[in-house]
Amino acid sequence: MKVTVVSRSGREVIKGGIDLSDSATVADLQEAIHKRTKKFYPSRQRLTLPVPSGSKERPTVLAAKKSLKEYTDGNSDSLTIVFKDLGPQVSYRTLFFFEYLGPLILYPVFYYFNVYEFLGYKGSERVIHPVQTYAMYYWCFHYFKRIMETFFVHRFSHATSPLSNVFRNCAYYWTFGCYIAYYVNHPLYTPVGDLQMKIGFAFGALCQVSNFYCHILLSNLRSPDGSGGYQIPRGFLFNIVTCANYATEIYQWLGFNVATQTVAGYLFLVVAASIMTNWALAKHRRLKKLFDGKDGRPKYPRRWIILPPFL
Ligand SMILES: NC(=O)c1ccc[n+]([C@@H]2O[C@H](COP(=O)([O-])OP(=O)(O)OC[C@H]3O[C@@H](n4cnc5c(N)ncnc54)[C@H](OP(=O)(O)O)[C@@H]3O)[C@@H](O)[C@H]2O)c1
Repeated sequence: MKVTVVSRSGREVIKGGIDLSDSATVADLQEAIHKRTKKFYPSRQRLTLPVPSGSKERPTVLAAKKSLKEYTDGNSDSLTIVFKDLGPQVSYRTLFFFEYLGPLILYPVFYYFNVYEFLGYKGSERVIHPVQTYAMYYWCFHYFKRIMETFFVHRFSHATSPLSNVFRNCAYYWTFGCYIAYYVNHPLYTPVGDLQMKIGFAFGALCQVSNFYCHILLSNLRSPDGSGGYQIPRGFLFNIVTCANYATEIYQWLGFNVATQTVAGYLFLVVAASIMTNWALAKHRRLKKLFDGKDGRPKYPRRWIILPPFL
């Protein structure tokens, strides 16, 4: 089979095309493109079928495991494929590790070192309140848990993410981490009452444990190599809410904020909740579409999307 590889503008990417056996898969084609170009390793490549000019249809993305023959239109001797360079890639584990490492290291810097003196604050000696100590442990436990989950719990379906996401996500997590740590550990910080602090941390800790359990339930939906696609999550809070992991994540930040009460912390809560709400809407839509109750497929049950009893 002769495969012609073109860019989205129609320019030939591999001069003269690529000859492959009739039984070749998309993964074989990706390997062949890598061999010829040296630069574009398989996870950097997005291969699609051409769409007629002027068409508003989304192009079909080729699945690595499928045979190329499945994409031929009756004529199995030749195939034209559109190639897009996705740019340098990193594994999802690398991406998550770096975005969580920043807050894990930077927050304690504000707690243990008197950075405020360097930042121009000339006050009397700093007194550390119990809530600031608990907040530091709570925060570090949260990000340590996320790193552990990244390596030992999550079963990702996508192998890689663009390298540029590392910079974008690190900017988000590292900046918010410093912003919150700065105010919670500030020498002029005024602690909330003892009862409020205990309620906030206890509720938050309960949500963190629940969040961990939600991640275990999600990971049990797939085999260890990440295959298995998307399934209907069931059990525990998933019986009432599609994104129980995001719900518990949001509520645990609420617990942290009830205990520490800073504008910075609440701002992070609002931003994180709106990001997760967008993702949850998409995930809920996808599950409803995949499990539509037609042709023997199960019907997705009625559930809240992310934040019962609101949404
Ligand atoms: N504070 C914040 O700003 C913030 C923002 C986002 C996330 N988080 C936290 O980080 C955690 C991980 O985030 P995430 O966005 O990666 O979570 P996620 O996409 O909901 O799920 C975590 C893992 O479960 C898999 N999964 C999800 N739904 C599935 C289904 N129906 N069937 C099979 N597998 C499924 C995902 O697979 P795929 O690889 O296919 O996605 C992923 O590997 C969140 O749960 C949350 O605690 C925090």
